[in-house]
Amino acid sequence: MGLLQKILIPVLGLVLAFCFYSSRENFRPEMLKGKRVIVTGASTGIGEQMAYHLARMGAHVLVTARTEAKLQQVNGKLGTHTCTHKHRKANLTSQVVERCRALGAGSARLVSGSMEDMATTRQLVEVAEAELGGLDMLILNHVGKSYFNYFDGDVGHVQKLLNINFLSYVAMTVSALPMLKRSGGSIVVVSSMAGKVGFPFTVPYSATKFALDGFFSSLRQEFSIQSVNVSITLCILGFIDTENAMRAAADVLLMSPAPKEECALEIIKGGTLRQREVYYRYASTKLPLLLRDWAAELLDLLVRQRYRPERLRAA
Ligand SMILES: NC(=O)c1ccc[n+]([C@@H]2O[C@H](COP(=O)([O-])OP(=O)(O)OC[C@H]3O[C@@H](n4cnc5c(N)ncnc54)[C@H](OP(=O)(O)O)[C@@H]3O)[C@@H](O)[C@H]2O)c1
Ligand SMILES: *[C@@H]1O[C@H](CO)[C@@H](O)[C@H](O)[C@H]1NC(C)=O
Repeated sequence: MGLLQKILIPVLGLVLAFCFYSSRENFRPEMLKGKRVIVTGASTGIGEQMAYHLARMGAHVLVTARTEAKLQQVNGKLGTHTCTHKHRKANLTSQVVERCRALGAGSARLVSGSMEDMATTRQLVEVAEAELGGLDMLILNHVGKSYFNYFDGDVGHVQKLLNINFLSYVAMTVSALPMLKRSGGSIVVVSSMAGKVGFPFTVPYSATKFALDGFFSSLRQEFSIQSVNVSITLCILGFIDTENAMRAAADVLLMSPAPKEECALEIIKGGTLRQREVYYRYASTKLPLLLRDWAAELLDLLVRQRYRPERLRAA
């Protein structure tokens, strides 16, 4: 009897787990057709790739970045562009918008502004409401520039990065929540392995990513208790081959980066299917995390072995 239970219970568990996972809805690109989506930090990297995927799927995309804020500051207000002004100085973000249109987006727009300033976040969402008339998915992806090196003791930088990488995510969520409640929408938060495990040489960045987990995982619990039908998907990414990440870390990290295009698609899939968390790539994120609570020191050691500190650039 004892033995039977020992075998039966795990087997039953496996069968139930299999049924649970296989009964889940599969992703279809048509799910995004006509959906209204904001992607923050979409002038480069993973955000840019997400914008292109969404465009191909026929979504209405609104992308954000600072890029044009510098130009807009001249007249002191937030800019919104639909890229009809051919004569305007070509810049990265408007190229992204033009490409989105060419790829078949329902519509594509740029709203520029720095996420360091909380007033900007509110304005961004107001522009989205006015232009799109609602919102189905808020993809929070932007990150402020930091250094890749030993913690330098600059508290002001930590504070600035918390504003950009964390507080603006909170502020955007608060502003967008009424629209998301109306649509039964989704919040997608792009985080990192550095937001689940302590990584060296990205101390301020890691702190901001851990903060995101605390805020959004707690909020998800409250949504569940209150039956708020807005999903929250936290994305745990490993090393991805974006230009900025490669420039900062490729020499020091003993890891091969994963492609940003596929990464972007996995994030969109996870958000659309309202998954709790996305792990990309799975084997190099989810599996190491199995060690975190039971063999933390071993995981710390394995992490440290992935770095060549002698290759850090002189600060
Ligand atoms: N690449 C990786 O290896 C990796 C690994 C784990 C997690 N992630 C996460 O994935 C996300 C995207 O990373 P990525 O590598 O694609 O980054 P990226 O290429 O450096 O892009 C960052 C984006 O954020 C925008 N941005 C920067 N500062 C801003 C500010 N103050 N206000 C508003 N926007 C600002 C940038 O545009 P402007 O400069 O024009 O404003 C850009 O569009 C981030 O959340 C990152 O933490 C990346
Ligand atoms: C919650 O929203 C999703 C997506 O908009 C929808 O499919 C689902 O039916 C909603 N659930 C409830 C309980 O309203």
